[in-house]
Amino acid sequence: MSVPISITINGKIYESEVDSRLLLVQYLRETLRLTGTHVGCDTSSCGACTIIVDGKAIKSCTMLAAQAHGATIITIEGLANNGALHPLQESFKEEHGLQCGFCTPGMIMTALQLLEDNPQPSEAEIRHGLEGNYCRCTGYHNIVKAIYHASRKMGKEVVHG
Ligand code: FES
Ligand code: FES
Repeated sequence: MSVPISITINGKIYESEVDSRLLLVQYLRETLRLTGTHVGCDTSSCGACTIIVDGKAIKSCTMLAAQAHGATIITIEGLANNGALHPLQESFKEEHGLQCGFCTPGMIMTALQLLEDNPQPSEAEIRHGLEGNYCRCTGYHNIVKAIYHASRKMGKEVVHG
């Protein structure tokens, strides 16, 4: 069965007819070609697919596109502003918070939520906040450093997008 949906993604409204069983992550990647959101597992455990839906970080492989009807979404593609990287993106670059980069979009979207909830987290709080995101390359240390660095750079002015 197909259903009509309308979703605001990175400030733009997308209207589509989708199969009622289509996952949100598939809609983003395969229908809209927003391929910055990754798929790293089929068990809802890796966090590579994390996006912001109505202000909350969610794993987009755990939600149907139809359930996102009417929602406002931010994906990794929506973070840079007129070509200027978001401070989190800058910090991942500066602190070498990535190697292969596969986990990075999900890490950054999770970190965005983390800093929204807690603008000046400790290293331990950052590690706790990343429990739902896996990285196979970095050993997490530089990811934590990058988020810590971004939080101090951003001060209290943490905003989505
Ligand atoms: S692809 Fe969603 S948690 Fe792994
Ligand atoms: S940088 Fe390769 S999985 Fe994290």
